[in-house]
Amino acid sequence: MRNKIVAGNWKMNNNATQTKALINDLKASLHNIKTNCRVVIAPTSINLSLAVQETKDSVIEVSAQNMHQASNGAYTGEISADMLLDVGINTVILGHSERRTLFDESDELLAEKVNTALEKGLEIIFCFGESLNDRKLDNHFLEVGSQVKKSLFHLPEASWKNIILAYEPVWAIGTGETASPEQAQEMHAFIRQIVEKKYNKEVAENVSILYGGSVKPSNAVEIFSKEDVDGGLIGGASLNASDFTGIITAF
Ligand code: PGA
Repeated sequence: MRNKIVAGNWKMNNNATQTKALINDLKASLHNIKTNCRVVIAPTSINLSLAVQETKDSVIEVSAQNMHQASNGAYTGEISADMLLDVGINTVILGHSERRTLFDESDELLAEKVNTALEKGLEIIFCFGESLNDRKLDNHFLEVGSQVKKSLFHLPEASWKNIILAYEPVWAIGTGETASPEQAQEMHAFIRQIVEKKYNKEVAENVSILYGGSVKPSNAVEIFSKEDVDGGLIGGASLNASDFTGIITAF
């Protein structure tokens, strides 16, 4: 049985005070709720340590939004896998479309980051997704397939227990436009199929595939009801405790 996961990507939002306040709101609103999914938040790196402390004794797990591929060294401004582990972080988001487009992260660079994260024992939420242009040109399966293959298909089968996939069509991120539940299901089934073809049925059936892109409490139930959608990676709506809780309870 694969894990159901709802992860909140806070991006570059919330200072320390706001981080603490949002975690406390979230803990309060989750208090009497029986969740059947993992709940993850990804605050900005400067507040990771604080978030780990504040979520102790709660169901909330903390993930980083990014890391550098090198173990250590002269990389001004960067953060290593060991530094994340040292403050109690066990999960990292890699390949978010904002990292790909705004920070020029290529499939090849992401493969290096994936290797380092796995070597160090981190779990990865690996994001990918097509642009609006790819979708219009009917290139979306080709593009998504290529992103997944180039950054992940060199991995041995055993590594896949530490991989969570997140399909995020770029045209749906922060735009208010969501892929329809059918479009999400179609893509998730395609991804599972290529993973099965490359590895085997067990790997394909056990990998959680999250959907991301304008998920809200009002559309989460329908999206999460799809067979191959195992949860969501939530941006905007994760910045508000009641919206995020509404999405969590959509399972
Ligand atoms: P959004 O962002 O929910 O605000 O569309 C999703 C994401 O970027 O992970």
